[in-house]
Amino acid sequence: MTVTYNVQVTTGNFLQSGTIDSISITLVGTKGESPKTALDNWGLDFYPGAVSDYKVSCDHNLGEIVLLRLHKECTVHLVPTNWYCNFITVTSPKGVVYSFPCYRWMEGCQTLELREGTAKTPAMDTLPLLKEFRIKEVQKRQSHYEWKIFAKGVPFCLDASSMEELESDVKFSVTKAVLFAERSKSKKIELKLRGYSDSQESWKDLEDIKKVFWFNKSDISEYVTEHWKEDAFFGYQFLNGVNPKMIRRCTEIPPNFPVTQEMVAKSLGDDTTLEKELEKGNIFIVDYQILDGVPAGLNNGRQQYIAAPLCLLHLSAQNHLMPLAIQLSQTPGPESPIFLPSDSEWDWILAKTWVRNADFYAHQGLTHLLQTHLLAEVFTMATIRQLPMCHPLYKLLIPHTRYTLHINALARERLISKGGVFDKATGVSYEGLVKVLQKGTRALTFSSLCLPEDLEARGVSSLPHYFYKEDGLKIWAAVESFVSGIIHLYYPNDHSVQEDSELQKWMEEVFEKAFLSQKASGIPSSFSSVEELKKFLTMVVYTCSAQHAAVNSGQFHFGAWMPNFPPSMRKPPPTTKGTANLQNYKDTIPEINTTAVILSAIWLLSAPQGDVIPLGKYPDEHFTEEEPKRLILAFQEELGKISKKIEERNKSVANMEVPLAYKYLYPPEIENSVSI
Ligand code: FE2
Repeated sequence: MTVTYNVQVTTGNFLQSGTIDSISITLVGTKGESPKTALDNWGLDFYPGAVSDYKVSCDHNLGEIVLLRLHKECTVHLVPTNWYCNFITVTSPKGVVYSFPCYRWMEGCQTLELREGTAKTPAMDTLPLLKEFRIKEVQKRQSHYEWKIFAKGVPFCLDASSMEELESDVKFSVTKAVLFAERSKSKKIELKLRGYSDSQESWKDLEDIKKVFWFNKSDISEYVTEHWKEDAFFGYQFLNGVNPKMIRRCTEIPPNFPVTQEMVAKSLGDDTTLEKELEKGNIFIVDYQILDGVPAGLNNGRQQYIAAPLCLLHLSAQNHLMPLAIQLSQTPGPESPIFLPSDSEWDWILAKTWVRNADFYAHQGLTHLLQTHLLAEVFTMATIRQLPMCHPLYKLLIPHTRYTLHINALARERLISKGGVFDKATGVSYEGLVKVLQKGTRALTFSSLCLPEDLEARGVSSLPHYFYKEDGLKIWAAVESFVSGIIHLYYPNDHSVQEDSELQKWMEEVFEKAFLSQKASGIPSSFSSVEELKKFLTMVVYTCSAQHAAVNSGQFHFGAWMPNFPPSMRKPPPTTKGTANLQNYKDTIPEINTTAVILSAIWLLSAPQGDVIPLGKYPDEHFTEEEPKRLILAFQEELGKISKKIEERNKSVANMEVPLAYKYLYPPEIENSVSI
């Protein structure tokens, strides 16, 4: 008796995803296999976006369909074309539908085996065939994705020395790659044509800096050019700028930063004192101690300088966060004066600029590179290496790893390697950057990566107009609810977590490769409970999406006016007051070509990207069951509600001291993964 199965094949709907090569299929059921059957209808079968139906006939019933094999064979005399298969469904004569998510490239002539898409932990698999399949799947991936040491004492990374070595499945799409290359090239040419790339001179007139980015200006970059000298804007950036994780409540003046009542009396006014404000919790501090001892490098062959400043701030009665005092080193004394708003105009501007320069390193090296990009790479690698496609946590995490390996490989090639942009156009150079990363890695803690705990530990939970905090907490809660829902579907109790060997290997690898097995980090080396798993995976999804958006998207807005975010300083920090003036200010901040290099880099990294998938959107259907799909919808609805609240809030900022809408955590503008 002939039994016929209907097979539907969906090809990826993007440029160059189709193939003219011949594709055949073999269905594998619990009661045997089908003959290898060509998938061949009249006309072209596998063009981009094609959804094509075929029939596979067998001489007996195959039972439950558990696997299928796709065979790609090259057409004689033609160059093979790669094929990106999205999804396959198989419908039995009785109408039972089996779904096979693929979302992978088939290159050259090869056979690809796929298993049916129901999410299963190892314990949920009973068939020996499927148990073996998941073991072989991860073994194969481990041989393709190997670890490499980027630098000692820093998270591990993918071993790919060039873009050609990257697997197609993790590469940028053609659309994204072309856009990225064009933007990179056009900006360099534009700056070259205008003569900015070759000049090693100081800026003659600060206003000229605008010309570097004039065609890419935004509301925020324009605001910055007008208000960069203002104290309220300086304070605002610690809350809602690109590095909103540095500020802490100060309960006691630290011994190495001896600010006195006398120094700050004028700023605080007659009605209060430093002691009273400390008691009320209105004093905050930003400490760049991590930069102490970091060696400065050379730019244009000339020595650069690094400071490790401390900055004290006050939350005023009007709820403005205002700087009170700045010391440019960790060692107090006559050589390291405490600068005050009452000092001469350029003394105070220069002191604030040193803080902004320190913030550049802390932001790029720690908050951005280490705490989002490098961690996301380890989460991606562990997911690819340890979890088979059918694992529920592979399905949960893989959308949050899209393009991460590619962008980090590019960063290692062009930005953070020796001779890259960081080496040539920032004061820390390659050696200094590695030192910053090493110190930052030693200091990594689990709680600092979990937004609610981080805010609590920094004592900033009640700071007003802290939009990064307000929006971030809402998104954290939405992610937590979604992740918890998924975990509850597959892990009924702590025992089910403990016995999942694949999950435990995933965590072991993350502990070892991201946190270098440092127990003091508070990172677990294995999971013992459902609660622990929920918390960790919430942090992973949040870090790869919202946290990266918060610290990435505003780089050009806040950095385009270079004096607000200088990547280097060409003179040592002042050791006395009364020496700064406009001319030596211009001779201290980066010269023309360094400015051009850094602005073209941050423009490329924070300009609107093509081929973006926003947070909570899952166009690739890795989950095939109804329950997880319902959870995805609920997550999207929740993000929609958060978006509305942010829209309302942003309408109300017009009357504030710094009237800037905060959109870095607006869900439609958050990307699902670290991809830029
Ligand atoms: Fe980034």
